[in-house]
Amino acid sequence: MGQEGRRLFLMTCIGGVAVVTAGAVAYPVISYLAPRKGKDNSASVSIPEKDLPPDGAKFFQYHGKAAVIVRKKDGSVTALSAVCTHLGCIVQWEAQKGQFICPCHGGQFSTDGKVLGGPPPKPLELLKVTVANGVITIG
Ligand code: FES
Repeated sequence: MGQEGRRLFLMTCIGGVAVVTAGAVAYPVISYLAPRKGKDNSASVSIPEKDLPPDGAKFFQYHGKAAVIVRKKDGSVTALSAVCTHLGCIVQWEAQKGQFICPCHGGQFSTDGKVLGGPPPKPLELLKVTVANGVITIG
């Protein structure tokens, strides 16, 4: 093997090591950033009905985002995303007004998620909810 041959061999080895190293670094980063698949996204959340105050709301995490259940005046339960549709702040429950208020820019939402005032362009996302045997199931 001549000098050119050794140089080519050396460059091929260095290139191979660089590719393997880049893959070893990139894989965990990409798998961390990629959206989760499988059970996590299909999992439902169960909350005992007694944990929901009669005139109140209960916040929880749903698929990694803030969500809320609220008992409406007619006694039924609604589940909503608690992420404001304006710029993504988490809404708060105002029991006296019976509505959600966004602390960032004053957006207001009904217990059905409808926009009552402020800058939010669309309603809060409704989540599927069922109530059975004293358990509220979201998702
Ligand atoms: S982020 Fe909610 S009103 Fe602006």
